[in-house]
Amino acid sequence: MNVRYERCIGAELFTSGGRRILDFLSGYCVYNTGHNHPDIVYVLQQELEGYGPAMLQSHIPELAGELAQRLCERAGGRLTKAFFGSSGSEGVETAIKLCRAHTGRAGLLYAQGAFHGLTCGALSLMGDPFWRDGFGPLLPGAQGVPFGSVADLEEALSTGRFAAFIIEPVQAEAGVRVPYAEYLRAAQALCRRYRTLFVLDEVQTGMYRTGPFLAAQHFGLDPDIVILAKALSGGLIPCGAVLMSDAVYHSTYGSLKRAILHPSTFSENTLAMRAGLATMDVLEGDRLGERATILGQELRQRLTDALSEFEMVKEVRGLGLLSGIEFSAPRQLRLRIPFEAFRRIHPGMFGQVLVMHLFRDHNILAQICGNNFMVLKVAPPLVVSEAQLDEFVGAVREVVEMVHSSNVFWPEAMSLASRALNL
Ligand SMILES: Cc1ncc(COP(=O)(O)O)c(C=O)c1O
Repeated sequence: MNVRYERCIGAELFTSGGRRILDFLSGYCVYNTGHNHPDIVYVLQQELEGYGPAMLQSHIPELAGELAQRLCERAGGRLTKAFFGSSGSEGVETAIKLCRAHTGRAGLLYAQGAFHGLTCGALSLMGDPFWRDGFGPLLPGAQGVPFGSVADLEEALSTGRFAAFIIEPVQAEAGVRVPYAEYLRAAQALCRRYRTLFVLDEVQTGMYRTGPFLAAQHFGLDPDIVILAKALSGGLIPCGAVLMSDAVYHSTYGSLKRAILHPSTFSENTLAMRAGLATMDVLEGDRLGERATILGQELRQRLTDALSEFEMVKEVRGLGLLSGIEFSAPRQLRLRIPFEAFRRIHPGMFGQVLVMHLFRDHNILAQICGNNFMVLKVAPPLVVSEAQLDEFVGAVREVVEMVHSSNVFWPEAMSLASRALNL
């Protein structure tokens, strides 16, 4: 996948070698508005040419107020204040501090399988040893509960130790796991009962990726804190936001003595704020959320129709334009033997070879999920066209067909694995 990209527009990437590649990864949900959306590029160019203040740290950055208002209005419910940072992880770190300050408790609950980022606090909210090993000790008091289990959640919350329950409304890297609606509503109610803050990490699912502005809105939720990043600034300037209730805000920043307790140098910088406002204009002006809803359903239907005959395809699932194709171990012996040999070499190798074929043979950029190597993630920019969706479905079908029927896939995969391991 080592090519040199020269121009990226919408859902298409053009290389120096003359290839045109379709982006179905979107930088892990960064490019909701597509690559280099002209309206966002224009706004940034204007800002730079205006020579205005960028991050003086001593004035009232009005654009930050405008963006905060816009995001909070769209989020609705109790979310009325925003803290800006530069990444999803910074948002998670911020949320941890806010929740501890608000509740006076140290404990942090998370859902197993989660991906919240790789800084020490965020990493404490991820159970997978693949990411954690070698970086401890991480934050004490962090505990995982099974995603989807109300009983386990209640048992943990009832100890009264937890400041926050932090969860992705759809677990993206865990394999695009969509919970049943009642789970998240029950989780929210339990959090209220046990005075634990209910925090949604919408770093991948927010900004209209799943249809509405927040995935929370599918489930009728009213969280205390929402974390946004990735698509917030059009994929051009790093930017993240933590939306919070008045109560959370006041308990952290609410007195003169504490007002500066959690700032950040690049927070509220003019380029990021401009990019954020322009991104919202594009997302809403072009009704990309509605597009995500309609095209997402169509895409999953087309994928299901195209792939249902193949035994290794377990499920196509998702919400809006965040979908996953889950594969399972084959039953037929002729496939099972190479599959198992392959899995012993590295559990992610099967998925990586799929990804490689999509890229090399069909000019499609996609990836498997970071915490579930048997799920191919499907997350094109929300500006993707129906023809591009068709192209993707056709390409996936051909690759999956090759996995099931040819003598090419497994020997080549084995040779790749051997090279990777220097066997
Ligand atoms: C759900 C979720 N939360 C948080 C993060 C961390 O974001 P960042 O990489 O911007 O720090 C990610 C990154 O992929 C993510 O998917």
